[in-house]
Amino acid sequence: MDENDVGSDLEKVLITEEQIRTRLAEMAAEVDRDYAGKDLLLVGVLKGAVMVMADFSRALRTNAEMDWMAVSSYGSGTKSSGVVRILKDLDKDITDRDVLVVEDIIDSGLTLSWLKANLSSRGPASVQVLTLLRKPDAAKVDVDVRYVGFDIPNEFVVGYGLDFAEKYRALPFVGTLAPHVYSS
Ligand code: PRP
Repeated sequence: MDENDVGSDLEKVLITEEQIRTRLAEMAAEVDRDYAGKDLLLVGVLKGAVMVMADFSRALRTNAEMDWMAVSSYGSGTKSSGVVRILKDLDKDITDRDVLVVEDIIDSGLTLSWLKANLSSRGPASVQVLTLLRKPDAAKVDVDVRYVGFDIPNEFVVGYGLDFAEKYRALPFVGTLAPHVYSS
């Protein structure tokens, strides 16, 4: 699907397919360098990171393993509490492993802050984070993120894994949603 398939739901394209591809290739080259000679484990955070994981992992030269977690905030689905529940845990033990968490977006930072602490408590050799997008103006906690694709304004974004009410994830770019969609 592309922007023609969502009519007037989009306000604008914020990051194009081409920009995403170029940036992921740069980040992959950096990760290849940083993890040379190491046994890298990529941990994707469902569902938003699916697209980033698919394209980033294929841009890597490193023959990395892949695992997935699904997490959810406790309560109403807002992330303000920062208390996170594991819906799907990793399949494998990460003791002594070099772990790179792959995320689509860091908004408040609360999910990631919890996730980093959780993974770190399992005795890995290292835990670093790669995210395609980060909203610096929305940060509630400071989380150390090694690889950031793009810093973006604090706007409602969809596409490339990011949803609104579970839709728009399959758009190949990142765009902002028109207010009439989320305010109706
Ligand atoms: C998104 C995103 C991050 C989190 C970031 O996931 O994938 O995991 O929110 O928000 P935070 O920095 O404010 O904690 P979401 O909970 O929307 O689930 P999804 O990936 O299944 O869409």
